[in-house]
Amino acid sequence: MPVDVVLGLQWGDEGKGKIVDFLAPSYDIVARFQGGPNAGHTIYMGDSKVVLHSIPSGVLHERPINLIGNGVVLDPAQFAMEVQQLESLGIDLYGKLLISERAHLILPTHRLLDASSESHMGERRIGSTLRGIGPAYTDKAARQGLRVGDIRFGDFVRRYEALRDAHLRRLDQQVSLDLAQQEQQWWAGIERMRAFRLVSGEQVLYEALSQKQLILAEGAQGTMLDIDFGTYPYVTSSNTTAGGVCTGLGIPPTAIRSVLGVIKAYCTRVGSGPFPTELNDETGERLRQAGQEFGATTGRPRRCGWLDLVAVRYAIRLSGVQQLIVTKADVLNGFDPVQVATAYLVNGQPTEQFPYDLVRQKAVPVYRPLRGWNLNHQAASHCETLQAFLDFVAQYTGVPVSHVSTGPQREQVVCFA
Ligand code: GDP
Ligand code: IMO
Ligand code: MG
Repeated sequence: MPVDVVLGLQWGDEGKGKIVDFLAPSYDIVARFQGGPNAGHTIYMGDSKVVLHSIPSGVLHERPINLIGNGVVLDPAQFAMEVQQLESLGIDLYGKLLISERAHLILPTHRLLDASSESHMGERRIGSTLRGIGPAYTDKAARQGLRVGDIRFGDFVRRYEALRDAHLRRLDQQVSLDLAQQEQQWWAGIERMRAFRLVSGEQVLYEALSQKQLILAEGAQGTMLDIDFGTYPYVTSSNTTAGGVCTGLGIPPTAIRSVLGVIKAYCTRVGSGPFPTELNDETGERLRQAGQEFGATTGRPRRCGWLDLVAVRYAIRLSGVQQLIVTKADVLNGFDPVQVATAYLVNGQPTEQFPYDLVRQKAVPVYRPLRGWNLNHQAASHCETLQAFLDFVAQYTGVPVSHVSTGPQREQVVCFA
């Protein structure tokens, strides 16, 4: 059962990229199973900063092969830019990156549809990254989508034009004049993709599993953005929970060995929607500055708040998380006390369950204050107040903390396992 899974358990941006990069040398394959270029996974290699959107976070190492799985939606133009970014850092992807032929393509008009839908929704907008994710998954579910493997067939241009024209008919506003330029970049991206091995991802993984190879499945977004279990409708359009691993890669549930959940020591959210522990005050601003909480994909300021253990335990139960990895512990340096939410008051009633709807009813967090720490003065491994915080998290959730991350660099990880 050699598939391990890394998932974000909050609203995304938990530091999954850094953790996958840290774990990757122990694996033969790193595979992305859902999402698309709405993701921004940041990795620091010394002074170089790499932000990956569609390409798995194992590419910076020699060992693993990296697979973009069938559950991913891929934008060829964005993909080509990422390839170029990695090449400029001297990273050779050829031979190291496979793309599932079943992955769906994001068209330039998917992005226009995303923008049009958001502008029509006004105040109720999702706060999408506008990368065309929702419209691409919509076409997939409507059985109209184009897939990566389709680029090999002679009718691909005709099928592209038919889908594009169908999209244009739905766009009532003036279509942006640079569509032609976007299409040019898109077709250049398609040519770039042809240089890579377009594979049957499920067969590659079946063979790897047969040979007892080790596979790391890399999640994008986080549980609270899951299409079924997140704060609907303020979610993304894929399953970010463990169930998405099987459908997004074509592996059986019995192949999964362990599920690792990544959480920040506090909480952030980018885009609209409920966020019970959000701090719209100086403390929230202090967290944003200390954690440099600005989106890796869109640059938007992230909303910041305290750690929400009600939501984290809900996420753990949905995916069967067996180990927790706590990131950004250093960001809380000097915060004292550190608050964690252990329950909500909904309509005046206390609950520890994550509510069905937080748009029409408000959840007021019930906090437990814990003593703070300062890792500038004490090593994480010897810091009693940090240890007490981690023990509290483990006790509340019933899941041990295996690693703590104390900075953006690769080596800034403390392992407790
Ligand atoms: P992802 O989407 O889950 O991969 O996370 P992002 O890359 O969007 O956001 C995480 C941000 O926090 C990035 O800028 C990382 O470089 C940074 N980061 C990750 N772990 C740590 C940590 O332990 N401490 C600090 N200070 N920054 C971290
Ligand atoms: P990573 O993988 C944080 C959010 C958007 C928006 C909602 C829907 O870096 O953690 P979409 O573009 O999917 O239609 O947007 O989901 N969102 C993310 N927030 N991290 C992400 O990815 C996100 N991907 C999407 O801000 O609220
Ligand atoms: Mg991110």
